[in-house]
Amino acid sequence: MSTVVLDNVTKVYPGGTLAVDQLSLRAEEGELLVLLGPSGCGKSTLLRMIAGLEEITAGDLYLHGRIANDLAPRDRDVAMVFQNGALYPHRTVRGNLAFPLEIAKADPSMTRDRVVELSRALHIDETLDRRPGTLSGGQRQRVAMGRAIVRQPSLFLMDEPLSNLDASMRTELRMEISSLVRALGVTTIYVTHDQVEALTLADRIAILNRGVLQDVGTPAQIYNDPATAFVAAFLSSQQLNLLSATVRTPQNQYIMLDFGLHQITMPWTDPRAYAVSQHTGRQIIVGIRSDGLTPIPEGVDGPHFTGRVRTLEYHGHEWLAYLEVGIPAVAAPEPTPKHPVNGHANGHANGNGNGHSAAARLRAMVRRLTGGETDHGPDDTPPAIGSGTHRRSDLVVRLGGRPVWRAGEHGRVAVDLSRIMLFTTAGDRIDPPRR
Ligand SMILES: Nc1ncnc2c1ncn2[C@@H]1O[C@H](COP(=O)(O)OP(=O)(O)O)[C@@H](O)[C@H]1O
Ligand SMILES: [Mg+2]
Repeated sequence: MSTVVLDNVTKVYPGGTLAVDQLSLRAEEGELLVLLGPSGCGKSTLLRMIAGLEEITAGDLYLHGRIANDLAPRDRDVAMVFQNGALYPHRTVRGNLAFPLEIAKADPSMTRDRVVELSRALHIDETLDRRPGTLSGGQRQRVAMGRAIVRQPSLFLMDEPLSNLDASMRTELRMEISSLVRALGVTTIYVTHDQVEALTLADRIAILNRGVLQDVGTPAQIYNDPATAFVAAFLSSQQLNLLSATVRTPQNQYIMLDFGLHQITMPWTDPRAYAVSQHTGRQIIVGIRSDGLTPIPEGVDGPHFTGRVRTLEYHGHEWLAYLEVGIPAVAAPEPTPKHPVNGHANGHANGNGNGHSAAARLRAMVRRLTGGETDHGPDDTPPAIGSGTHRRSDLVVRLGGRPVWRAGEHGRVAVDLSRIMLFTTAGDRIDPPRR
């Protein structure tokens, strides 16, 4: 049984902000599910709805198979840790850790043992007799985590617990959280805006943008096979190359991705060929990570781009090159509100079915709360390519440890066809990943 099920959950704040938009998601027993997305995308709102600290506007929440929308927070068997885990300043670490058990009138000797055991697991056993004011930030967050987990909740919710710590402490505590929650086997939902934290910690990642669920999968699935251009861009450590192309199928011989100044051909044997050919004559977005491009000498055949090397950048462990290829680059399209503002639902990636009457009720409710519109924009038309979304059209190329080019010279890069990602102009994958 899933520990947490969110079924078409929407949150509209009283002021009219649509913070979570028809989101469906499950957390399985014992898994570490990471909610990832940029600041303001609705992560905390979602977590607070699960904890019972925020009302659910529409949709259903199930905890352990039972509907929980109206369950009081204390009846949810949930523990939560925030960015600044507030501790009782006048109690020692031992007193802070023991507090939830004392409230629950647990056996004192059991409490003593449990506090010591947990403090060892969290590497704060040396600090048991100190007050929070004398601890480092990392130690305070360990105590906050210990206090949340001491009662062995069935669900552990963490909201950016590491974001106030310095980089080395973050890495250290990240590894400890990972081993601790896995050792305890407690289902954990962990919120972060940091993609490295998400990729390293998660069993599965759910990635949000503007309250809309973009993708859910294991770190490898969503990194290698992202459902939307937003996911691909958000998980790229360097800027993702997103290029506008027109699909052509000359005499049905092959598929051509026409970038204007450059063309790349894709054989009919490519597994994506059929899906792409459905877009013949139309624009699509082609995503290429900087390491999907390899500098090659003049004259080498195969799919490639050429251009002038505008500049090189030294990143310590690698060099990046910016290649002027004269191809229009685009930004990852923003999701449009999923709820049916103009009488029809916008079927985005991971689209959730919604019945007409529920849709109509939701529409009426959103109108009432927002005075007509949501703050996502006046309609659900996808942003048009070519209307202010173009960026500088340099291709970002990863060179590795050696700068094989000099600025100003002519460069040629091979395109690894198996690594290019193909999106509609709305940002959805043309060949949707299987999950
Ligand atoms: N109490 C609130 N009242 C009104 N709007 C809110 C409230 N809390 C959050 N919001 C808005 O809801 C959206 C999502 O916020 P939040 O869930 O805090 O995002 P995140 O945790 O991903 O940064 C933001 O636009 C934010 O301004
Ligand atoms: Mg937040």
